[in-house]
Amino acid sequence: MTDEFLWWRDGIIYQIYPRSFMDANDDGIGDLKGIISRLDYLENLGIDAIWLSPIFPSPDVDFGYDVANYKDIDPKFGTMADFSQLIEEAKRRKIHIILDLVLNHTSDQHPWFLESNKSKDNPYYDWYLWQDPKPNGDPPNNWQAIFGGSAWEYDPDLGQYYYHMFYKEQPDLNWRNPDIRQEMLDVFRFWLDKGVDGFRLDVFNAYFKDPEFKDNPPKFGIRAFDRQEHIHDVSQPEMMPLLKDIRDILDQYDQTYVVGETFLADTERTANYCGNDKLHAAFNFKFAENRWHPKRFLTSLTEWYQSLSVNAWPNNFLSNHDMTRTASRYCFGEDDRRAKVAAAMLLTVKGTPFMYYGEEIGMRDIPIRKKSDIKDPIGKTFWPLFKGRDGCRSPMQWNDEENAGFSIIEPWLPVHSNFNERNVESQTADPDSILNFVKNIIRIRKNEPALQRGDFNPAITDPGHLLAFTRTLGADKIIVILNFSSRELTYQLPDGDWVSLFDNQTTENKLLKINPYQVHILKLKD
Ligand code: NOJ
Repeated sequence: MTDEFLWWRDGIIYQIYPRSFMDANDDGIGDLKGIISRLDYLENLGIDAIWLSPIFPSPDVDFGYDVANYKDIDPKFGTMADFSQLIEEAKRRKIHIILDLVLNHTSDQHPWFLESNKSKDNPYYDWYLWQDPKPNGDPPNNWQAIFGGSAWEYDPDLGQYYYHMFYKEQPDLNWRNPDIRQEMLDVFRFWLDKGVDGFRLDVFNAYFKDPEFKDNPPKFGIRAFDRQEHIHDVSQPEMMPLLKDIRDILDQYDQTYVVGETFLADTERTANYCGNDKLHAAFNFKFAENRWHPKRFLTSLTEWYQSLSVNAWPNNFLSNHDMTRTASRYCFGEDDRRAKVAAAMLLTVKGTPFMYYGEEIGMRDIPIRKKSDIKDPIGKTFWPLFKGRDGCRSPMQWNDEENAGFSIIEPWLPVHSNFNERNVESQTADPDSILNFVKNIIRIRKNEPALQRGDFNPAITDPGHLLAFTRTLGADKIIVILNFSSRELTYQLPDGDWVSLFDNQTTENKLLKINPYQVHILKLKD
């Protein structure tokens, strides 16, 4: 393991949902110029990379996750020149750019699909997954779309069904076709040549499906999708050699990174996709799905570390654009104490931290009250059981001005009603804010290589209330103690003199007092 600073291993990655970060052209939708205007904020926060949710031309059935052109920028986000400016301005601030590649499926408006469904003789016909109906006209097999209903959509002109794991407007590509493979590998080169540093691969382990389209076996579940073992529609063995091809391309460029979104995969399978000749990292959902209990977090971390090969580096996240925000899951009302503990955990355990925009100010999900307010189609489909993903995608709260400083016109999603108090400007001025707390932990992390790449060892004394662990690198030893509870507790420090990295005070008393939801980070004195 090199001692050189590697941005993707030692740094912090910040996810931006571009529609919702900052609107510079006054149309109520965030854009690239908006992001550029906030780079100073991100530099000051101390992050090392930005993962941009998709910015490619898209009809927005799934808000960018339905791509109509892999080699251009959607005009609502700006131009290629704006993107080049973003790369340049970010690089000046040592901020790296990660693009979100959605290569499992395209939009049904992608020119390839518009050609594909014209006729069976069309050169693009075989770029998608077309199958004959069963003799009785039924879909070719029992596969279900995760966004609801059968995964097969009938095209009366062609007299065949095409397959879509998500919405019917997102037809899956036929990755067994060598032309697709070449085309997509070229997409990686195209953006790397523009100066991009990495990629997040959307549902990459769904690229290949069973070549014979066998039925999935049944299992117990609530929704039709969950009543199947997904053994034939995801995680096929052909993915491994493809990952090597992708990695070979990335390795021709300096310090690049590829992280995959594993779909329907447990920790072990997720870990198996990471390492030399594979992905640098993949997302382990188990950590983010934990209830508020230190032991649960520790167990999922330990499993994650143990599953990964020695060549792979872990990563961790608590929030993203598909799930309820961290603070909405764990906090009571506007009390940020749990969100602070969660942020401290994310930033000090072993593994590259991924932070979701607004997590640093403890943004909460916006409430979804009426079906007619919903923008995310799955919210409409599954209402009222599931209200969709609008909640975690509301505009970034910059200040207490109209629309929280995000836009001068009404944004595409409402701003949270708490924005008058909860915003970047007011939290910057408040020494006790979660923003200043997060900045402080990031500062500590930046100064301490042990917190970036040190070994992780649990140091638990009270697993019901505390998460405590050490991070060790060479002679450096740091102990992190997180009080998950509302009780005042004590912690018996190991032998030696320990200096608090918050205030440089040396702890004389080995029995440390820990206030409710308090975070201690201490370093062993040499
Ligand atoms: C996973 C993405 O995170 C989600 O937002 C999207 O809807 C699906 N993949 C389909 O691309």
